[in-house]
Amino acid sequence: MMGLRIQVFLLSVWFQFLIIAAVTYPEDAAILKSLKDIIEDGLPPNWLGSDPCGDQWEGIECTRSRVTTIRLSSMGLTGSLSGDITSLSELLTLDLSNNKDLKGSLPSSIGDLKKLKNLILVGCNLFGPIPDSIGSLQQLVFLSLNSNSFSGKIPASIGNLSKLYWLDLTDNQLDGTIPVSDGVSPGLDMLVSTRHLRFDRNLLSGTVPSNLNNLTNLNALFLSNNRLTGPIPNLTNLTTLSYLDMSNNTFDPSPIPSWFSTLQSLTTLTMDRTELEGEVPTTIFSLSLLQTVVLKQNHLNGTLDIGASHGSQLLFINLQSNSITDFKDRPGANKDIAIILAGNPICQESGDPKDYCRAAERDSMYSTPKNCLSISCSSDQFSSPTCICAYPYTGNLSFRPPSNNTCYQILEQSILLQFQSAKLPVDSVSLSNPRKSQSEYLEISLAVFPSGQDSFNRTGISMIGLFLSNPTYRPPEEFRPLFFNGDEYLHFTGENRRSVKSTGIGVIIGTTAGVCVLLLLLVLAGVYAYRQKRRAEKANDQNPFAHWDRNKSSGSIPQLKGARCFSFEELNKYTNHFSDTNNVGSGGYGKVYRATLPSGQLIAIKRAQQGSMQGAVEFKNEIELLSRVHHKNLVTLLGFCFERGEQILIYEYIPNGSLRDSLSGKSGIRLEWVRRLKIALGAARGLSYLHELADPPIIHRDVKSTNILLDERLNAKVADFGLSKPMGVSDKDHISTQVKGTMGYLDPEYYMTNQLTEKSDVYSFGVLMLEILIGRRPIERGKYIVREIEMAMDKEKDLYNLYEILDPTIGLGTTLKGFEKFVDLSLRCVEESGADRPSMREVVKEIEYILQLAGLNPNAEFEASSASYDDASKGYQHPYGNESFDYSGGFPVSKIEPQPVILYF
Ligand SMILES: *[C@@H]1O[C@H](CO)[C@@H](O)[C@H](O)[C@H]1NC(C)=O
Ligand SMILES: *[C@@H]1O[C@H](CO)[C@@H](O)[C@H](O)[C@H]1NC(C)=O
Ligand SMILES: *[C@@H]1O[C@H](CO)[C@@H](O)[C@H](O)[C@H]1NC(C)=O
Ligand SMILES: *[C@@H]1O[C@H](CO)[C@@H](O)[C@H](O)[C@H]1NC(C)=O
Ligand SMILES: *[C@@H]1O[C@H](CO)[C@@H](O)[C@H](O)[C@H]1NC(C)=O
Ligand SMILES: *[C@@H]1O[C@H](CO)[C@@H](O)[C@H](O)[C@H]1NC(C)=O
Ligand SMILES: *[C@@H]1O[C@H](CO)[C@@H](O)[C@H](O)[C@H]1NC(C)=O
Ligand SMILES: *[C@@H]1O[C@H](CO)[C@@H](O)[C@H](O)[C@H]1NC(C)=O
Repeated sequence: MMGLRIQVFLLSVWFQFLIIAAVTYPEDAAILKSLKDIIEDGLPPNWLGSDPCGDQWEGIECTRSRVTTIRLSSMGLTGSLSGDITSLSELLTLDLSNNKDLKGSLPSSIGDLKKLKNLILVGCNLFGPIPDSIGSLQQLVFLSLNSNSFSGKIPASIGNLSKLYWLDLTDNQLDGTIPVSDGVSPGLDMLVSTRHLRFDRNLLSGTVPSNLNNLTNLNALFLSNNRLTGPIPNLTNLTTLSYLDMSNNTFDPSPIPSWFSTLQSLTTLTMDRTELEGEVPTTIFSLSLLQTVVLKQNHLNGTLDIGASHGSQLLFINLQSNSITDFKDRPGANKDIAIILAGNPICQESGDPKDYCRAAERDSMYSTPKNCLSISCSSDQFSSPTCICAYPYTGNLSFRPPSNNTCYQILEQSILLQFQSAKLPVDSVSLSNPRKSQSEYLEISLAVFPSGQDSFNRTGISMIGLFLSNPTYRPPEEFRPLFFNGDEYLHFTGENRRSVKSTGIGVIIGTTAGVCVLLLLLVLAGVYAYRQKRRAEKANDQNPFAHWDRNKSSGSIPQLKGARCFSFEELNKYTNHFSDTNNVGSGGYGKVYRATLPSGQLIAIKRAQQGSMQGAVEFKNEIELLSRVHHKNLVTLLGFCFERGEQILIYEYIPNGSLRDSLSGKSGIRLEWVRRLKIALGAARGLSYLHELADPPIIHRDVKSTNILLDERLNAKVADFGLSKPMGVSDKDHISTQVKGTMGYLDPEYYMTNQLTEKSDVYSFGVLMLEILIGRRPIERGKYIVREIEMAMDKEKDLYNLYEILDPTIGLGTTLKGFEKFVDLSLRCVEESGADRPSMREVVKEIEYILQLAGLNPNAEFEASSASYDDASKGYQHPYGNESFDYSGGFPVSKIEPQPVILYF
């Protein structure tokens, strides 16, 4: 029987091989065809023929002839959601976001999609109740139904979704109470895996159930703008909560709950219009990660005292329109904190208005500056900040007002850099016209410009839409929470331009554009020139090197150990005017050049490009830090140059390129098992040194194979401390900060909680160890290495059943001594919770042990490697430049590689 089945299987494989067409499972094909009949407009024009998988219909992905993904966001789909779609029984992802003409209700048969993991229907026009059957989608991880017109109650059955990570029902018309379990029927208090819960901007009523206190994994809880009543619940057990927003509800009048001060992970507390009264407790400000506190329009009274020992992250306190009569000002301690007390009795006195009595005001005129003046585009195109005419993808971002108004550039940069690091085909982004929307949110228009072409294709638009409407994009702290609402895109590449609908933005903007362009350009030119001037003035004011004599040895103003200051002239000479022939790499930071010192020493010169420079003070801090770090497994900083507006770092040159180059075969160095072990050990030792022996200790934050360099003896050297962060004494355990790093290596815990610890490096190192085994990048062809290994692994089998996916050059066929231990160790490093991961010191010990198992002395120098080259010099690119998203400005990355946009589940 078994034999027969296998034969039939083989036969059918063979059959498929012969007839490459008609690969879609017939039922799936029929369903998609019926979808074609219901959707009146907007489907991709390549939905032709009868074979969605074989004909590669856009927006459809298949696995083994079954449709597994439908992604059609921002396509201008017109019609209604068909019940048929719920017969696609293998579907994992359904994303139809931002199709404002997609109407109808969510069919109750949605519960049949038993394998569905991601249901993303943001910003459509869906109405009616959310069906109870949604509770049958046991595999669901992401459920985003925000910005529709759903009504009725939140189905209690959602409580049955034990894998749910993200639940967003914001901006609908849901009413009734928040359902909790009662022993018989489920409720939302059962969502113990959930990290992100949003119900704001609905019509929910009743009390907030105290059982929400069971959701101890919550990172963000938004209940604002509803009609909730009763007492504010005691949520003291939510120790990982980072955002809490319950504003604009009608709670019973009460003092500020004392448990707020116990939420150790809290970064943002927003409780305006919640009937709070009494004094503001000083203890609340001592939370070490707290950045923003908004308690305006309450009845808070007495004296405001934020204390002297408040958390160092504190940025913004808004207590506008309360009854505060006094403020205990400690000018030294509070100077970096923006405090707003306008509309309180303390600000009604006549006389000199204090700073804190000014109401928050903001720039209503922001618009991304352009670097060009005279560019005229055809009437329906727009010019990008980089002066290219194109059809941008547009939409609106809405977010809570940030604490001040000078920082739209930060938002702009973060969007661009994260797009580029996700390899989306984006050239530039522009923001304009910030304005107030309903519910105290701000809105700003976003235009995303394509790279390399004048328009996006459908895949590009889907990816960008998904990226912005999901947690993949992390806005800077002060802009959170942030939503994206995309417009319909009308100019897909290679398709006949559809006539612009009369309500489309094209017409409106098109007609006004002619009149305004000239004026706008003049204004922008003025703003730009002014900014440049200010920037130059500022740079001079703050130059920490201003009084520093380069010819003196190190030790004066910048505290340098071993590194020296180079003049620009010198470097210009060594690199032959920074000629292209000496350029050995480039990345987000700028370009890297190879050069030779008069002494014969080879150096690598890393030159920051315009736009990616940091402030002078930060630059000085960085070189001070780098110059203090000395270890044989770390790349040494030799010097720097800070002159003529340049920021340049000079490193020792490491001849054999990066580990990535070797793994990919590019450098021609063959890495068999023992060599890989030694490289892992060297890199681990370098990191262990940074964590435990450097003073102050340093978290690398961007451990990856392109940052592990190999010297002439194939010793590993860890490079690129550009993102590294010293750990202060007070915040030894964790640092809350903007997430930086590289997709694929990023610690999911850090990504979600913002709390950086050494264990984030351990995670990345674990990924690196897996990469060392299978040779491929951590994310390739849509597969994430950690999941791939976990899925393929079978501890009962030889080589843990990983034979098929191992890099063949590792020496398959020989005995890989210690292999299983190595796999076990790497999987411990990528444990979900940092606490379960080993320290780098333990990792070093373990790899030393594995090397001994493999019959080597872990302390012996590595063998000379000259014999192991095939051809080391060919096509070699120096790897100092990196492609991580370091928020420091960057190069447009024009390639698009399919990447999973949601990484962690
Ligand atoms: C919830 O799940 C349980 C079993 O896991 C099942 O018996 C029950 O019917 C489900 N309830 C709903 C409302 O889906
Ligand atoms: C939540 O906590 C409450 C009180 O501690 C408890 O009675 C209830 O059973 C818990 N619910 C769940 C689903 O664990
Ligand atoms: C909160 O945590 C405490 C201590 O861990 C526990 O005793 C209590 O039952 C928890 N409360 C709820 C509602 O889960
Ligand atoms: C909140 O609940 C915790 C236990 O879950 C308890 O220790 C604490 O006293 C409660 N706080 C208030 C203000 O009720
Ligand atoms: C502040 O408000 C509380 C509650 O409304 C009241 O009991 C208290 O007397 C007020 N304190 C001052 C100083 O006005
Ligand atoms: C505005 O915020 C940014 C970032 O938070 C900060 O660097 C800047 O100094 C602030 N500006 C003012 C005027 O407070
Ligand atoms: C407060 O929430 C209600 C919804 O319950 C909303 O209609 C109203 O606009 C909100 N008010 C403000 C000022 O945001
Ligand atoms: C869509 O555009 C990207 C780059 O912008 C390209 O790599 C991809 O092949 C395009 N897809 C189609 C179907 O043309």
